Amino acid sequence: MATVYVPKETRTGETRVAVTPETVAKMVKAGLTVQFEAGAGEAAFISDSELGEAGATVAAGRADAMAAADIVLRITAPDAAEAASSKQGALLVALLAPHQNLDVVRALAERRVNAVAMELVPRISRAQTMDVLSSQASIAGYKAVLLAAARLRKYFPLLMTAAGTIKPARVVIMGAGVAGLQAIATARRLGAVVEVSDIREVVKEQVESLGAKFIPLPEREEAGEGEGGYAREMTPEYLREQREIVARHVASADVVICTALVPGRKAPMLVSKEMVEGMAPGSVIVDLAVEQGGNCEVSQPDQDVDHHGVLILGPSNLAATMPTDASQLYARNVWALLEPMLEDGAVKLDLEDEVVAGALLTHEGGVRHAPTQALLDGNDS
Ligand code: NAI
Repeated sequence: MATVYVPKETRTGETRVAVTPETVAKMVKAGLTVQFEAGAGEAAFISDSELGEAGATVAAGRADAMAAADIVLRITAPDAAEAASSKQGALLVALLAPHQNLDVVRALAERRVNAVAMELVPRISRAQTMDVLSSQASIAGYKAVLLAAARLRKYFPLLMTAAGTIKPARVVIMGAGVAGLQAIATARRLGAVVEVSDIREVVKEQVESLGAKFIPLPEREEAGEGEGGYAREMTPEYLREQREIVARHVASADVVICTALVPGRKAPMLVSKEMVEGMAPGSVIVDLAVEQGGNCEVSQPDQDVDHHGVLILGPSNLAATMPTDASQLYARNVWALLEPMLEDGAVKLDLEDEVVAGALLTHEGGVRHAPTQALLDGNDS
């Protein structure tokens, strides 16, 4: 029977945990032995005793537990030293951010750890229950609007008061993927007037069904939709035209929420410095794309920037500000992925399975994800 180990997360500001009492109970029922590092769930308000009641036990020491575990479940990647001290042939499941952790990927491959990168799970219907990108992006979209509302000098809703009418806040949202759609829904619930720019025409209907207005796109021969339903990287001319169109809307916005991403590329720059300077002082921008280079020219990761009186926030890990629900969803995503990999309480990887094949970053000493391998080759030369 396989042993699962859940270490305490070490990345600064990380509060989430990869298991909850709910998923621990399911793992134990499936025949797994579950161990965790004391305090692993503390930052997510899950106590050791709750995990214990669900059937897990506290492991004596982190290094020993890592070296003995058949399955390690985490939120973020281990460091290279910890990767190298894993049990050979173990399964690691985490958000591995391979392009940022090449030394870790190398260590995992050398140690023959089979590492599943949760962000590589294919976005197919069958894998929706395993989709941490969606579950965590949705939280980020929601929280971004709340942060903006809390920092704005105005109300969001239209208010009819004895002292007269208050106009609703105007919110512009860049990108209507998972985070953007949740941001639209949240801003609408708070009563704001919402306008949205996305380069995939298909989202127009979704945007409108949430009660927001779709900002027209440049009339060019470039289609915004690329592989797998994701956005394509647009030409500089297209992005310039898009900025020109969007600028008018941004200038009269009280809040701009940026969520636009292009897989594997730098985020498109959609709100230039000049556009920020065209906004009224006291307006708020929240740039969720900040880790990928940002949609706003002046945003900085995890810093409050004041540019000509406009406040620009660049939160890099909003999911960690809501660890209870973020952990609950992440843990369910992980279990949905892990359960079909088990046979009689042991891990059996079926490489014929599209989800397993897509999500496995390293396997039996090799790196399976071609873009990561290319980066490693580049780095090695
Ligand atoms: P994402 O996080 O990669 O991008 C966010 C949004 O930014 C996308 O809507 C994209 O079109 C937009 N964007 C890119 N460049 C832009 C630009 N220049 N201007 C304005 N917007 C720009 O995408 P996310 O949220 O991860 O998912 C995108 C889509 O993938 C979903 O809407 C859905 O169609 C599909 N999907 C499918 C799933 C499944 O079937 N399991 C699960 C999740 C998503």
